[in-house]
Amino acid sequence: KKGLTTEYIGKKIYSFNEVESTNSVAKFLAKQGSPEGTVIISETQTKGKGRRGKKWESPSGGIWLSIILKPDIDPSKAPLITLATGVAVARTLRGMNIDARIKWPNDILINNKKVCGILTEANAKFNTVEYVIVGVGIDTNLNVDVLTEDVKKRATSLSVEAKIEISESETVSNFLNEFEEIYDLFKLEQFDEILYDWRKMSQTIGSYVEIKQPLGKVLKGTAVGINNQGALILELNNGELKKVISGECTLKEN
Ligand code: BTN
Repeated sequence: KKGLTTEYIGKKIYSFNEVESTNSVAKFLAKQGSPEGTVIISETQTKGKGRRGKKWESPSGGIWLSIILKPDIDPSKAPLITLATGVAVARTLRGMNIDARIKWPNDILINNKKVCGILTEANAKFNTVEYVIVGVGIDTNLNVDVLTEDVKKRATSLSVEAKIEISESETVSNFLNEFEEIYDLFKLEQFDEILYDWRKMSQTIGSYVEIKQPLGKVLKGTAVGINNQGALILELNNGELKKVISGECTLKEN
């Protein structure tokens, strides 16, 4: 309805029918000098990338896009861009009357099933950030039957949950509008505001969770908070507080 109202996010949009990965195209364009705010979007991806080297299934019926960012920040702040992006997606879906929640660090869930994943790739040079690519995948009108059994158990799509056909172009515009608003806050270092919204829409905080860490260690406890670097604060069964920077989070029944 109101379309794209941004100042610089999506000023230039490259759209494709098929690419290997919009993140890879974005990286290439960023290196070639494409400015901040450039968006790459594709109908399908043949080598869609998920986190931790996983493949991201990207048939048509989803929004697969990447945004080139060139923030003048300390590289340690980059993870917050992922959280900010999660807030932008959740706000977009809530604007469509869909009860979206954020699972740490960066999945968007509806009724406990994943509808969106975010993959941020940053390139730092001499302790400055050269560029950050934010990749967002949203299952909009995806026929979930085409997904592998394993993914189907955990994934859903907007059309399945909202029981209506979703306008992809409208969803993209709404998301880019939300994204610019929150990214502006990020650049102004208003991290508290971003984290406040993140916590409000979080499914993780207050839940009993299990975190599988990169080296296979498993932590269990109650997620009690998130610090201003985006790390999860876990209260272990013995009462000890532990800061968790990365890992695969599963929500458990209490
Ligand atoms: C995750 O594992 O949850 C992250 C998935 C990120 C997928 C998106 S789709 C657009 C962009 N291009 C990619 O290759 N990956 C991201």
